[in-house]
Amino acid sequence: MTKRIAVLASGRGSNFQAVIEAIAAGRILAVCVALITDNPNAYAIERAEKAGVPVLVLDYTLFPSKGAYEHALFVAMQQQKADLFVLAGYMRILGTAIVQAFPQKIVNIHPALLPSFTGLHAQQQALQYGVRVAGCTVHFVDENLDCGPIILQKCVPVLKDDDEDSLAERILIEEHKCYPEAIRLFCEDRLKITGRNVRIR
Ligand code: GRF
Repeated sequence: MTKRIAVLASGRGSNFQAVIEAIAAGRILAVCVALITDNPNAYAIERAEKAGVPVLVLDYTLFPSKGAYEHALFVAMQQQKADLFVLAGYMRILGTAIVQAFPQKIVNIHPALLPSFTGLHAQQQALQYGVRVAGCTVHFVDENLDCGPIILQKCVPVLKDDDEDSLAERILIEEHKCYPEAIRLFCEDRLKITGRNVRIR
């Protein structure tokens, strides 16, 4: 059955684009019911409009508190009746209430091979650490940052002249393949979570 997907993004939205293209190409059996963004200037909004995806802007700066914003976001998410929420460069940490309200229904992509290099500037952290291999991880979202059960990972080499931008660019190419693939598996009901482990059926 066709799944309902809602995407949360704060910026450029290239992963969002990869997902909507995979849906349009019939590779993911889903409909993207909304783009929800905390940033009225997010380029992701233009991408949504071009693709005919409804946009919901919850401008974080217009809310009196983080709690008020989170409540509005919670209500907006509930209204989507989505089977899956896709965090695609959503730059805020989801509150516990939201994470607990949608168990195993929120996924994220992180530009590092988790559990290494959580949080911001993951690619820079990888370079500073001196790893030879970097990559990206698609995972379910739990209460801890970049920590839920891992669905897919892809790796790329770190080259000797890499800087943050060049490494980020190489990882992004893999992100754009990995995220639609993980979402496809979810939409085909092929992911079975047992504790920290995700089995692909
Ligand atoms: C990606 O590198 C993603 O892994 C991270 O934020 C970045 C978002 O890029 N979570 P985009 O907005 O999808 O282009």
